Amino acid sequence: MIFITGGAGFIGSNFVLDWLAQSDEPAINLDKLSYAGNLENLASLQGDARHVFVQGDLGDRALVDALLAQHRPRAVVNFAAESHVDRSIHGPEDFIQTNIVGTFRLLEAVRAYWSGLPEAEKAAFRFLHVSTDEVYGTLSKDDPPFAETKPYEPNSPYSASKAASDHLVRAWHHTYGLPVVTTNCSNNYGPYHFPEKLIPLMIVNALAGKPLPVYGDGMQIRDWLYVKDHCSAIRRVLEAGKLGETYNVGGWNEKPNIEIVHTVCQLLDELRPRADGQPYAQQITYVTDRPGHDRRYAIDARKIERELGWRPAETFETGIRKTVQWYLDNPEWVANVQSGAYREWVAKQYEGEAA
Ligand code: NAD
Ligand code: DAU
Repeated sequence: MIFITGGAGFIGSNFVLDWLAQSDEPAINLDKLSYAGNLENLASLQGDARHVFVQGDLGDRALVDALLAQHRPRAVVNFAAESHVDRSIHGPEDFIQTNIVGTFRLLEAVRAYWSGLPEAEKAAFRFLHVSTDEVYGTLSKDDPPFAETKPYEPNSPYSASKAASDHLVRAWHHTYGLPVVTTNCSNNYGPYHFPEKLIPLMIVNALAGKPLPVYGDGMQIRDWLYVKDHCSAIRRVLEAGKLGETYNVGGWNEKPNIEIVHTVCQLLDELRPRADGQPYAQQITYVTDRPGHDRRYAIDARKIERELGWRPAETFETGIRKTVQWYLDNPEWVANVQSGAYREWVAKQYEGEAA
């Protein structure tokens, strides 16, 4: 079986669903169920013995030791993290605890378990660490996209904490021989994306008749990847990635934020027109920029294609249409995640703005 951390979050839950749709290998899923963890994402697995969910912290050494000893996984896939840049600016401590201390404790638990495996199982074991392109810092317009050789220059508390975790993973390989691989992926979007992040926030605000808050001039550039393509990249790296290597994962879809927002508005105009017949783009409002906002990310995903034969299946046009449709088809999921805690976050983050 495989051991997944953070499998009730956005990418982790998509990964668990895809994993069990494509194989019968069981998955144990350890997730703290922070504000971002949501068992509703996994409702279709209720009663499925191949999915074992455990609520707990990746930094709880006694719990992780016990789970590893009991379930004897052949691999660990580490998704668990605090993931939202704006939250890291308001309160960095949780990011240090989960992303750095938590990853350290998980590595130590996994090292102890792996050291005691029989030789053949030890050789086949993998620890896959899921990371981000944000560790590389920011690019100007004409810089080449991030290659795996680009030095780390993280700029936010979130990206600094992810960079630290990547360094720990690398060191556990070089020092202790732990069989690790790391993926650094660009911005994901798709089903079950928590509506604090750009694309789902724009969809739910648009439908609720609220302002669509664009930071600064809206010309910051991100590369966008449909979440199921990220899942297939992780499966491929788990299967064939070279030990100790890192793989950049991206969608070849660099777009300024304002273009993303207009695309979402146009799809909603087509699929769920406003009652007054006016375009959703009327709801766009420019708000105060994110402090230290990275201007541009771009991923050079040639290594994973060349060495492992992976390419994304979706274009941005196909992926964003599926995503908008998913939010239209799942109003209950949206209503349930917009709990009191969610409303408090929105009030704090967009305080004084028209959002
Ligand atoms: P998310 O915030 O939606 O989910 C994170 C999950 O981790 C939640 O289910 C949460 O409950 C769980 N978690 C948090 N702290 C925990 C702890 N201490 N112990 C156990 N579980 C804990 O995040 P996501 O967007 O799904 O991102 C998953 C991973 O992928 C993260 O490591 C993130 O850095 C990375 N990543 C995300 C993106 C993206 O665009 N979302 C892109 C590249 C990489
Ligand atoms: O690049 C990968 C990263 O992508 C992941 O590592 C992170 O976990 C993930 O959250 C995401 O980070 P971003 O900061 O790029 O995502 P976010 O959706 O928060 O913002 C995307 C862009 O949109 C960014 O330039 C900020 C802008 N933005 C965001 C929000 C929430 C707005 O203009 N308005 C908003 O209200």
